[in-house]
This record gives sequence, structure tokens and C-alpha cells, in this order.
Amino acid sequence: MTALSVSTSSAASLRADALVIGVAKGPKGIVLAPGAEAVSEAFEGKLAEILSTLGATGAEGEAVKVPSPAGLKAALVLAVGLGDTAEGSYELEALRRAAGVAARALAGSKKAALALPAESAEETEAVALGGLLGAYAFGTYKSGGGKEPVGELILLSTRKGSKDAKAAVERALVVGEEMNRARDLVNTAPNDLNPKGFAAIAQAAGKEHGLKVEVLDEKALLKGGFGGLLGVGNGSTNPPRLVKVAYTHPKAKASLAFVGKGITYDSGGISLKPAGHNETMKCDMAGAAAVFAAVVSAKRLGLAVNITGWLALAENMPSGSATRPGDVLRMYGGKTVEVLNTDAEGRLVLADAIVRAGEEKPDVIVDVATLTGAMMLALGSRTFGVMANNDELRSILHAASGEVGEQSWPMPLPPELRKGMTESTIADLANMGERMGGGLVAGLFLKEFVAEGIDWAHLDIAGPAFHEGAPFGYTPKGGTATAVRTLVRFAEQKAAGGKA
Ligand code: BES
Ligand code: MN
Ligand code: ZN
Repeated sequence: MTALSVSTSSAASLRADALVIGVAKGPKGIVLAPGAEAVSEAFEGKLAEILSTLGATGAEGEAVKVPSPAGLKAALVLAVGLGDTAEGSYELEALRRAAGVAARALAGSKKAALALPAESAEETEAVALGGLLGAYAFGTYKSGGGKEPVGELILLSTRKGSKDAKAAVERALVVGEEMNRARDLVNTAPNDLNPKGFAAIAQAAGKEHGLKVEVLDEKALLKGGFGGLLGVGNGSTNPPRLVKVAYTHPKAKASLAFVGKGITYDSGGISLKPAGHNETMKCDMAGAAAVFAAVVSAKRLGLAVNITGWLALAENMPSGSATRPGDVLRMYGGKTVEVLNTDAEGRLVLADAIVRAGEEKPDVIVDVATLTGAMMLALGSRTFGVMANNDELRSILHAASGEVGEQSWPMPLPPELRKGMTESTIADLANMGERMGGGLVAGLFLKEFVAEGIDWAHLDIAGPAFHEGAPFGYTPKGGTATAVRTLVRFAEQKAAGGKA
């Protein structure tokens, strides 16, 4: 991974391949952002004019390169757009994205210095995290390892020594590394990541970071009565797993359970997905990857909370041993479910995990899942839906996502949509209800499995989990690690004594 360090050197004297500055859209043309002063001086005050001539407007996503004048040690100046932000105040997300654009534009170079606005600890963290996420590359399968990401990012800051700036960079490093790990898990081809392999990775990483990891294999799942996980995993030669990752803190202010959907490949099962709908279905374990990344982050940051992560891992495949539409499964905890569509498998594995999580009586359960195409139709591909059995919790999670630069929107759980699922003639529930409001129906199904008295929220990340368009900001093609930062921020708020 790209190395990150902080330096108080002046932009003029630092040796690097490139020096990155920010430019914003001002009322009368482009404005150089704080951090660019020394660079501007080296251009004898003509930098804004030169950049304008080269076509720079300060728009978000823009990257304009200028050869350095004699007064700078770096070979190149790269100006990245910060958007409409007024002079002196920059949105943290604009900084993250600009740093990400710079890191992507400089892929292949050895060393880049970021002279972007970093006047507060928050700004420093935003620049550091955006840079680390933008530098991400997944070269596992490319001959020669693919295009090298930028080797080293040096953050220029006048605040290097200050305690809060140091902590800010440390946080960015932890969260950036763990998000990039989650992205790797999502991007790994599904023939190389099955439930057993995912569980082994969780065990190894858990050990490295001092987390307690327990894995239930197919025998233990059978013994325990986990009919949802087993029913979904039945069709595959790769059996399911339930992984428990526990982080405890001696002064914990709250106990949280994070539950992740971990379908390592979703073919749809016997209700097979048609071509055009299954090419990216390796991303169906993005919820479990996000949960794992969040728990490891919480541990590395030493947050004063207890968090148990539950990874509900299975592969959804069609075969002679697969669950049929019409089969009835007995879920963990005893409820029966008639499987009307084997492609509605996420809710089946999650139901088992949510019941199991509830047995430990956490204060809150938050599940994260690439659950429905319907949520994507509703919110597009950059926004996840937030549902909950408690309006305040839903608002808290929505607000937390906004603070960390993840787009989400609160969605309802209309009680009348429950009816369709309760009309199975032979079982307690069916795994499908009305087609209209399909994302909410899925949420209502999960709600059936939350124990009395526990606050629960559901993040449907089907849209933003996997990015198929052109890279933007710090978001590459493929796995995005969406929801990791929202979960970490939520845990931080709990650690600081915030209410659910
Ligand atoms: N994994 C899919 C949902 C999905 C779709 C995730 C697109 C990411 C991108 C899920 O298991 C699924 O197939 N859901 C069905 C449910 C339906 C059968 C009730 C869907 O949304 O079509
Ligand atoms: Mn499915
Ligand atoms: Zn699925």
C-alpha cells in the first residue's frame, strides 16, 4: 500500500515527483486554496493565470499539470479542483475527493507531496484518507501486477507536531487500510474467495490485530440449527460459514452488533439470475467485508465500545442439492420460511445471524447488506438506504454517513408491506412479498428476526457497494468499502457516550 507521512517542510524545498495544490471556483475565476502559497510564490504570482490558460476552472474532478519553475524542487505541479467552495472554507468531502483525484492522476510515480488545505485536524484527516483511498489499485490478476499506485504520499502540514493532527493522520491510516482491505475482498474473483476462504482471512487478520474470531463450519451450523445459512449454501460445493469477530474494551460505553451479508457469489440459485445480472455478483459479500473492516478499525483505534461482528457467509448456487423454490427452511431460533425465490437469499442468511446476534443482548444491531435491486432503483448507485425499528437510530446513522462522506437516505418500513410475506400457506413467513417497495419488504423481513427490545438498523448498500462507472474522487472501479466509515463513526459516537 501507498506510504503516508506528514512533513512540515516548505513546499518549495521538498523533493518529489509532483506537488499537489488545490484550486477552487471563485466569483472571478479560479482561486488558489490554502497550502498553495509557496508554490504560487515560485510562479511569481502568475500561477492562477497559467492554470486558467491551461483550462483549469476549479471544478471537482479536474486535474491540471504544470511543469515546475526553477524555485521548486518537485518536477511537476498538479492542481486539483475543489469545486464551488468559497475561499477559506472547504468541505471535507471536497478535500477527500481532490486528494483522491491527485493520487489517481499520479499513479505510477514514486513520491507526491500534497499541499492541499490542512489547517485543522479534520482537514488533515480528509486529505490523508482521500489520498490513501484514491491510491488504491487491485493488481492481483494483472500480469506484472498492473499499474503501480503512487509510492509515497507526503502531507505538507504546519500542524505536524500537534497531537490532534497526529491522531488525525493515524485515524486516516487505519480506516484507509481497512477500507482497502474490504475493497480487496470484494474485488477478489469469486473462484478465489468462498465462505471458507473468507473465514480464514478473518481468522488471520483477527489474530494479527488481537481480535477473537470464532468460525462455525457446516457441521456446527447443522448442529446449531442455522437453517437460513444452510439452505442458501446447499447448492454449492463450498459450504457456508458464520464468523463471529469480537472486540471488547474494558471501559466500553455500549455493546454493538454489526451483521454483514456475505454471499461470496450470488447466482440467484434455482431462481437463476439471467446473463447481465450476475457478472458483478462477487460483490454480494460487501456487507460482510464492511463489517469486518469496521470491527478491525474500531480495535486499532481503541474505541471504548464492545463490538461483535457477524459475517453470514454462503455461496448461492444452483445444483441438484440446491434449495428449491417451494422449500421450507427452519431458521435459527425456530421460525419457518417458505423460499419462494432462491434469489432472495440475503435475508435468509441475515435472519440466522440477526437472531444469533440478538442472543448476546447488544444495545444495537446494525446489519449491512447488498440486499435488493429495488434499493438501487430507488436511490441510484451512490446512495445506500437506511431502515430501522427506531426513527432516532435511523436519523443518527443517516447523519453519521453524511459526516464521513458516505451518501445515505432514510427509508421507511411501512407496516402494510409486511402482509404479503405472511401469506405463506404452510410456513410462518415467505421470503418474498409484494414486488412494489421490494427494498422495504426485505427490511421488514429482517425486522421479524430482531429480538424484542433491541434497537436495529439495516443499511441496504446494493447501489454503492460496487462502482461500475468511471473512477471519481477517491472511488475506483469495483469494490468501494461503503458503510465502513459510517459504522466506525457510529461506534465513535457510542464510545463518546452518544445515545442510540
Ligand atoms: N444480491 C442481490 C441484490 C443486488 C442486486 C445487489 C444488484 C447488488 C446489485 C439480492 O440477493 C437479490 O437477488 N435480490 C432480489 C430479491 C428479489 C428476488 C425479491 C432482487 O433485488 O431482485
Ligand atoms: Mn440474490
Ligand atoms: Zn444477493
